[in-house]
Amino acid sequence: MNYKLPISDKLHWIGVNDRETHLFENFWPLEKGVTYNSYLVNDEKIALIDTVKFNKTDLYLEKIKEIIGEKDVDFLVINHMEPDHSGSIAAVIKMWPNVKIVGNKKTFGFLKGFYEITDNLYEVKEGDEINLGYHNLKFFITPMVHWPETMMTYETTDKILFSMDAFGGFGALDGGIFDFEVNLSFYEDEIRRYYSNIVGKYSPIVQRTLQRFKDVEISMIAPTHGIVWKESPSTIFNYYDKWSRFEAEEGVVIVYGTMYGNTAKMADYLAKELSRNGIKNIKIFDASKTHLSYIISELWKYKGVIIGSAAYNTTVFPAVEAVLSKIENSGLKNRYLGVFGNKSWSGGGVKTIMNFAEKIKWDFVASPVEATYSPKEKDYKELSLLAKEMANLVKNNPK
Ligand code: FEO
Repeated sequence: MNYKLPISDKLHWIGVNDRETHLFENFWPLEKGVTYNSYLVNDEKIALIDTVKFNKTDLYLEKIKEIIGEKDVDFLVINHMEPDHSGSIAAVIKMWPNVKIVGNKKTFGFLKGFYEITDNLYEVKEGDEINLGYHNLKFFITPMVHWPETMMTYETTDKILFSMDAFGGFGALDGGIFDFEVNLSFYEDEIRRYYSNIVGKYSPIVQRTLQRFKDVEISMIAPTHGIVWKESPSTIFNYYDKWSRFEAEEGVVIVYGTMYGNTAKMADYLAKELSRNGIKNIKIFDASKTHLSYIISELWKYKGVIIGSAAYNTTVFPAVEAVLSKIENSGLKNRYLGVFGNKSWSGGGVKTIMNFAEKIKWDFVASPVEATYSPKEKDYKELSLLAKEMANLVKNNPK
């Protein structure tokens, strides 16, 4: 064993990498893995902050024992009960039966519900503190970021925010654990994919929570997934601020569903016309090929959205339907929307996207363009108009 990864004198990262699991929450692709971060405060009193998923319990316990030897763990702080973090609680209790389980009132309902754990509970309320010696933990109850029991733990001596899922992202840690040790561009994309798909629905609550921390000095942000923000915690804080306000950059995402390539032709033509109108950030996704989590992440980034579909059994193409449903569920706001598609006899694709447009209340751009059998000269003219109008809007009207 030589797992020690100190963050400071008395504080250790005891997270684990998971490169085996294919899908997070059994749905979101983990092409580059994920971490379950946990932290150990090895002070006069010993505290663990969150645990790890059940598939990594043995490694997790080994890491703890390497640092504390035969000593007891005094406190286990549970910031969040989702099983990717609570999955090793029972094992911790079995190993250190006197450990006090620190959580808020709602935490304990989940603890009993998932694991039948009801003993040694130590309830904390907003602003309560636990002194460990040098380190001192203060609790912020932050419900619905993104579960009802979620809370954050602020270490008041060194100003460290243990933020549970907030500020975290997909991607295993390949060596470095701090922001200044890694290539940030990969992690920033994966943090946005995590935010937009897992937390984004709760953006108004995230925004209110961020306001509560505006006047709190934070020297480090230590989430339960991904890198630890030590050099520049303001970077990730500012990203969250921007994403939770639905602020977006200049660029257009085109998402389409096609069976035999006619709707795809229209998507390519739109992209060419957007480019001719000065748009540099253009992302095209075939909804059948790209997992919707990547599409949603790009929608969270750019102002313009153009959705196209072949008609399919009198409605929208199934892969596009999944994207529409996820957008609606996520509550993403303040985007420009264009619509196009292709039909052969009854139609239904464009009509269904238009129904979606009415519900979602994004700003609608130009008229929908619907080709019949395959796009013709008239359709290409209409697509040119749509692209031109979209380009003007995203360039001239910040969202
Ligand atoms: Fe990483 Fe909400 O669990």
